[in-house]
Amino acid sequence: MDLERSPLLPQDSILIRQFIPADAPSVLKVYFTGLVDGVDSAGHFAVVRAFLHWIPMYLAYMLLLCGGATYSLAPRNLQLFGLATALLSCAFMLFIYYRIRTTFITYYRDGLRNDMLDVNSYYHSDDEKAERPTRCFWVAEIPSANSKGGSEVVGCVALDCSPKTDHEPMVGELRRLFVLPAYRKRGIGTMLMRTLISYAKDKQIRSLRLETTNFQPVARELYNRNWTYYSTRDSDFGAGDMKMNFIEYRLSL
Ligand SMILES: CC(C)(COP(=O)(O)OP(=O)(O)OC[C@H]1O[C@@H](n2cnc3c(N)ncnc32)[C@H](O)[C@@H]1OP(=O)(O)O)[C@@H](O)C(=O)NCCC(=O)NCCS
Repeated sequence: MDLERSPLLPQDSILIRQFIPADAPSVLKVYFTGLVDGVDSAGHFAVVRAFLHWIPMYLAYMLLLCGGATYSLAPRNLQLFGLATALLSCAFMLFIYYRIRTTFITYYRDGLRNDMLDVNSYYHSDDEKAERPTRCFWVAEIPSANSKGGSEVVGCVALDCSPKTDHEPMVGELRRLFVLPAYRKRGIGTMLMRTLISYAKDKQIRSLRLETTNFQPVARELYNRNWTYYSTRDSDFGAGDMKMNFIEYRLSL
């Protein structure tokens, strides 16, 4: 798909900074676009895969064609059968689209009930005694393209952390890495990730983990550079070659 891209940005016009509460609406937009709706989001990838690369969908297309042809060309007593076949295949397509969409909207809402509900208090709690004092959330900001000036949040990333214990070293988790489609392939994702890694090193975190899915090939391309594949676990979404798996990567610092 042809992306409508923003003009090229000089690298020094991209600012990576910590989240402030006023960023919340823009961050939610980046989150929704990155997870459910935008090009290369997991939700978008799943829809494209189901409609272009999935054998049951090819069968539905064939049934639709046959049903349509029967309805328009066959004798009257077969027309109803043709119509029913065509309608059934349309219903199947709509069902698959609905199922994919609701699955990813559910993931999105899970986030809204969790860390994305109040990013500031989840990631920037000042309590030094907190079990996870190293959490942090960053945004990527660029000068706004509109005539009024100002700036625009176009990406984000979060560092979450396992609770501190006496026995285990702290493991950081990279989460919520998203860049708006029009600003991708300009190094913003890499800048966000580097910021997170250098912050984690400063906080004496020795190991990072992240989870992505087989529905996010672009993100995996990025992680394959420095991160190491660790494990794969099943999700309850999909079946056969539409099955979604969670893939864990690790990085030693
Ligand atoms: C993954 C994502 C954050 C990368 O952001 P980005 O700003 O485009 O990243 P960068 O510009 O730093 O690109 C880094 C590398 O990623 C890979 N990459 C980025 N876009 C790609 C694309 N469309 N196709 C293939 N590889 C791509 C390339 O290896 C690229 O390096 P290169 O530019 O030297 O070839 C962005 O594509 C995104 O938001 N995707 C949807 C949400 C998502 O999957 N997030 C990850 C959650 S686990």
